[in-house]
Amino acid sequence: MDEDTDTWADLADQFADDAYASVKGRVRTYVMHRQLLEHLPATPAQVLDVGGGAGHQSFPLARAGYEVTLLEPSQSMLGKARERIERLPEEVRRRVTLVQADGEHAQEAVNGRQFDAVLCHGVIGYLEQPEPLLDQLCRCAAPGGVVSILAGNADAMAVRPALEQRWEDALEAFDARSEIGVLGVPVRADTVEELGGLLRDRGVEPLEWYGVWLFVDWLGFGGAELDPGDAKQLEAAARVEFEAARRDPYRRLSRVFHLLGRKGPS
Ligand SMILES: C[S@@+](CC[C@H](N)C(=O)[O-])C[C@H]1O[C@@H](n2cnc3c(N)ncnc32)[C@H](O)[C@@H]1O
Repeated sequence: MDEDTDTWADLADQFADDAYASVKGRVRTYVMHRQLLEHLPATPAQVLDVGGGAGHQSFPLARAGYEVTLLEPSQSMLGKARERIERLPEEVRRRVTLVQADGEHAQEAVNGRQFDAVLCHGVIGYLEQPEPLLDQLCRCAAPGGVVSILAGNADAMAVRPALEQRWEDALEAFDARSEIGVLGVPVRADTVEELGGLLRDRGVEPLEWYGVWLFVDWLGFGGAELDPGDAKQLEAAARVEFEAARRDPYRRLSRVFHLLGRKGPS
């Protein structure tokens, strides 16, 4: 993808540096990593991270001993990933491979290789039609492999405008399926049930789903200043969010959800 067609070129700094440095970003990394470890096979296993951005979700897995292939179309995002790889210890760095391709061509880009886990976090919402990408995710998973998707929660669309006191928008948002997201670009939302059905149609049986964050997200929209430098508070908040993300009714109100499925034996 060259600079002219790379829609993520302008967002790379904002997403990779700013969003992940916030309390919300750190909580997301912590919560999703723990959720993933509940379902991933033991190391060493092969992980493909489709639309992996700067590697915030998959580099922690490489640190934990997984062999990670990060597939990403955006040159700018890959640049961010390379910068971050430089900061990894040598033995971890050796476990990370970068591939430039869009997710709709993932299978071809990895030469038909299949993986023990295929991640696709925060990507399908940016696509008008998720099906072609879902096809590829499910094909790239080995028999018995895990598919892990993070998507916007269509059942919680009124939360953000309400917390921002945009009441007219909030009223309309109850039935909305898209919004201008926090990065300032349009983003589509899905439901756990619909996405689970699309996975099942492709031979991947839904295993479990979680919320990601709730309280730190809501506090942020309500105007609270959360300090990512306060390690004690951050750790305490992350542990609360981890519990909320696995329980009803809290997980249902998270503005994003994390759905995991397992591919059948063939
Ligand atoms: C919000 S970022 C998420 C990055 C990473 N998955 C994470 O959770 O940190 C969205 C990413 O999707 C990538 N992307 C956009 N369209 C894509 C496509 N068709 N196939 C694969 N990745 C895509 C963007 O380049 C960007 O890196």
